[in-house]
Amino acid sequence: MNIVILGPGAIGSLWAYSLRQQGHNVSLWSHHTTPTLSIQLDNHCQLDFNNRDNSALECADLLLVTLKAPNVEAALMPLRSFVHSDCIITLMHNGMGTAELVERCFPHNPLLLATTTHGAYRPEKNKVLHTGFGTTQIGGYNLSGQRCSFVKDVLDNALSDVFWNDEIETALWNKLAINCAINPVTALYNVNNGALVEEQYQRTLNGISSEVCKVMNAEGIDIQTAQLDQTINQVIRATAANYSSMQQDIAHRRLSEIDFITGYLLNRAAHHGIATPCNQELYQAIKHIEQSWN
Ligand code: PAF
Repeated sequence: MNIVILGPGAIGSLWAYSLRQQGHNVSLWSHHTTPTLSIQLDNHCQLDFNNRDNSALECADLLLVTLKAPNVEAALMPLRSFVHSDCIITLMHNGMGTAELVERCFPHNPLLLATTTHGAYRPEKNKVLHTGFGTTQIGGYNLSGQRCSFVKDVLDNALSDVFWNDEIETALWNKLAINCAINPVTALYNVNNGALVEEQYQRTLNGISSEVCKVMNAEGIDIQTAQLDQTINQVIRATAANYSSMQQDIAHRRLSEIDFITGYLLNRAAHHGIATPCNQELYQAIKHIEQSWN
């Protein structure tokens, strides 16, 4: 397949390299403007990729968007005239709310959503380390996307395990719930994920999960707070040594994904008329930090 990876950061580079190894014609679309970019995965040999090649974009069968949610709309907009209406657009990032924006600009394209638990780290620009094996779930956002389940096999052959999920939005909500709990709290207190097992964070974490649970129920997802607490705790323990993406963004004074994580939750809560004071407070606190940089 002709595949373009928009946003070849750590996860994007991992997919680019793995898909190329399967013989696909993979090119990159990075904010770096050099016509070629190299990627070395772990200790494998370095591979060269075309970058920002309009003709590659014009014949892309699959556009895999691995940018962070806040950057998706601004990066995709200018590409509108190059992307063919048959090109399958796949969004893979933390948070929710971008699909609505992308569908508005690309109303005819099949749109897929994906979430992955693979870990990747980019110690330098041309190098990516596959730090943790995980799984990927993918599913259709619109009707034409729902007909593209073959993409699951394409991705699975490159980096298993990939599962097709007919209810991908439920999977994304489950991930959103984890991110609503771990990300703003670790960012605010500047701690790693493992620190959240301490007593001082339990009240906040419980408050977040009970509010998220109410919103998920209103969205038609059958889940209970105790279940959610357990999942959040499992992820905290499994990723104890990690610093969450939001902690890293805030620590490096980069715009975080808060609008697409807690912000998305607050929007849906308002839609259903559900009070979410705990999440509101965290949202305001993170926004306050971001605004203080101005
Ligand atoms: O955003 C992140 O860092 C990750 O999604 C998670 C699961 C919170 C682990 O650090």
